[in-house]
Amino acid sequence: MSKEIQLNFSYPTSVVFKRGAIKELSEYLKQYDFGKSCLLVSGSNFARRTGYLDLLKNELKKINCETYVYDRIEPNPSVETVEAGAMLARKTNVSFVLAFGGGSVIDAAKAISLAYSSGVRIQNFLGVMNVNVNTVPLVALPTTAGTGSEVSKYSVLTDLKQKRKLAIGGPALFPKLSILDPDTLYTLPPNLVASTGLDALSHALESFFSKNSTVFSDMLSKESIRIILNNLPRAFSGDLEAKAWMMYASMLAGLSINITSTNVVHALGYYLTTHYGIPHGLANATFLVSSLEYEAPFMTDRFAELSEALGHSSPDNVVKSRLLLKDISLLLDALRIPRNLREIGVKEDEINTMVEDVTQNYSRNLSNSPIELNKEKLIEICKNAYVGRF
Ligand SMILES: [Fe+2]
Repeated sequence: MSKEIQLNFSYPTSVVFKRGAIKELSEYLKQYDFGKSCLLVSGSNFARRTGYLDLLKNELKKINCETYVYDRIEPNPSVETVEAGAMLARKTNVSFVLAFGGGSVIDAAKAISLAYSSGVRIQNFLGVMNVNVNTVPLVALPTTAGTGSEVSKYSVLTDLKQKRKLAIGGPALFPKLSILDPDTLYTLPPNLVASTGLDALSHALESFFSKNSTVFSDMLSKESIRIILNNLPRAFSGDLEAKAWMMYASMLAGLSINITSTNVVHALGYYLTTHYGIPHGLANATFLVSSLEYEAPFMTDRFAELSEALGHSSPDNVVKSRLLLKDISLLLDALRIPRNLREIGVKEDEINTMVEDVTQNYSRNLSNSPIELNKEKLIEICKNAYVGRF
């Protein structure tokens, strides 16, 4: 075995994965002592439109739980949104927080729970990656398949003024209970299936190639990548069984990045989201092939290992690497993802500014990369993304 076994992890989140589980929410909550008043955090549309909001309120009523709704979470939630949520939590003195939505909602709910419980403004936690204070319990009910936030110790918020993403990490951010119900994905439209699914793929690939990867994270990330490549196109076409597999795969990838964190793809992707409003997963996808293509020659054995796990065989590791990159490129084509930065509206002469911004704001992500990435190397990756994938 080439990798020495060294592990240091804990997963404090109880996970339920079952079709229709949300309809039994009260039964699951009865097993815990989360108290009798809840801040239900969601976006402004999906929960209400689909009838889930009423269903959740009804389930909470069954266990005599008072529910206060905070349904103002926007995509890429801001610090201000979190502070307003924490203020409502303080006013209502809730005993737990329940998040129903995609990664933005769950990330915001984590931050609301943290700010509320600690009595400290969320700004003071931004960039801190080992937050370990007691918080009121968070229950996460994901409605997309991609973020992995339901099992992760991260919350990513947006600083609107500075146009940058700011992460918070640590044991305090783990949900206490996550209920993954694939039925919530039933109405998820193809564009969201693609962008969230590609976020999960980015997590899994960045995790596998991270310098922090372990034999355990490899197991999680490899399986996640295999499932995503096999299921994302069918999920994109609306197949509910494939969507359920995507929910499972994104959970695996979420578990994996708890160990490794993300790296260069997320760092570059954050720029496109904060400066161009490109959805998180789509922004990552734009840099996926160019980043991996750049890294491949420096770690041919690792690329060959993953390629083999996906069923490719060749006596030549370089060929195996190419086959892996081809798989990813074909997947992106199948999901109709822009082939280059130009299609998104980025001008070639913006690349230097972009790299400057990324090195300044996301050095933590970059430091997890398998190879050292200075500005010149990042410029090369961006130039390749500008020309476009093969
Ligand atoms: Fe992500």
